[in-house]
Amino acid sequence: MALLSKKVCVTGGNGYLGSWLVMKLLNHGYSVNTTIRSDKDMSFLKNIPGASERLNIFKADLNQPDSFQPAIQGCNGVFLVAHPMEPDASQSQETITENSINSTLAILQACIDSKMVKRVVYTSSVASVMFGNKNSSSNVVDESSWSDIDLICASMPSMATYMITKTLTEKAALEFAGKHGLELVTVLPSSIHGSFIGPEGPKFVYFLMTMFFGKADAYNYMSFTELVHVDDVASAHIFLLEHPEAEGRYICSAVETTPEKLSEFLSSRYPEYQISTLDSSGESGRAKSYKLSSKKLLDLGFSYKHGLEEIYDGALESFKRVGVL
Ligand SMILES: NC(=O)c1ccc[n+]([C@@H]2O[C@H](COP(=O)([O-])OP(=O)(O)OC[C@H]3O[C@@H](n4cnc5c(N)ncnc54)[C@H](OP(=O)(O)O)[C@@H]3O)[C@@H](O)[C@H]2O)c1
Repeated sequence: MALLSKKVCVTGGNGYLGSWLVMKLLNHGYSVNTTIRSDKDMSFLKNIPGASERLNIFKADLNQPDSFQPAIQGCNGVFLVAHPMEPDASQSQETITENSINSTLAILQACIDSKMVKRVVYTSSVASVMFGNKNSSSNVVDESSWSDIDLICASMPSMATYMITKTLTEKAALEFAGKHGLELVTVLPSSIHGSFIGPEGPKFVYFLMTMFFGKADAYNYMSFTELVHVDDVASAHIFLLEHPEAEGRYICSAVETTPEKLSEFLSSRYPEYQISTLDSSGESGRAKSYKLSSKKLLDLGFSYKHGLEEIYDGALESFKRVGVL
């Protein structure tokens, strides 16, 4: 995309992916408007090189979609990253999904109304493909797949609200954009893992590191054995904003492992830690019946820079930095 100016908006800039994306965009010379939901200590964002000149922080809440307008004004690109990772347990799945769709479409309308936004990149999740149709011979799942809501409920009841909401919000956003001629690209990351720049370890990364904390049930958290470094996810977002031919959905998943292989890898790479092994921790999560393909992203010219080593080395370093390991 030929950007008139390199000014973009990132929603959820204090979050795990959002903060990494803000850092990378500043590093690439962009001016960034980012949104946060509430007053918190944002010194970790303000201290990123380039932030004092090119980062503006706005307050906005998905429950009040109009609140995003000031942050979108004057931007050529918008990254819709903000989303509650833990849905409000007091609300029904239907209400949560409806609210997510309504707020996303209202923000997309604000992008259209701004008359400046050339492309929107929406962060979805592989949850929107992995319970859908597979290539029958290879079990490969690609972007042609849409998760089946009943199958999500049956397979992952504890995460069903989040997964259904991500699936239906992405679908509604693509339909809305198609109808209104808005350029919208969606990114579908698998489990985002690795380093973090915030003052606390992201909860989901903590789950994926549970074996370092001596928990007996460590590998129960490894329901997801497809991983991608946060730096690769942020790079993919920027790549898809800039690439003139980017369109539609893109799975973003770099590493596929199994609880067994991961247990062996961690024990041999980090012998100084008392890492729980799979044998001592019982069940290792669901049986896997599909293989994610990010061929579409790779065919467009993207390449992953980080493997399993960098993912766990990075996460470990970050947890040490915040004094947790
Ligand atoms: N983590 C993963 O493994 C993974 C995998 C696939 C896709 N994703 C997607 O990637 C995106 C970022 O996830 P993450 O891992 O970076 O999660 P995160 O660290 O929890 O960040 C989520 C961001 O969304 C904001 N947010 C939540 N509810 C909001 C609301 N009502 N109004 C405004 N902002 C709100 C949060 O603000 P507060 O700090 O105020 O809550 C935070 O800035 C999400 O869209 C998620 O669905 C994540």
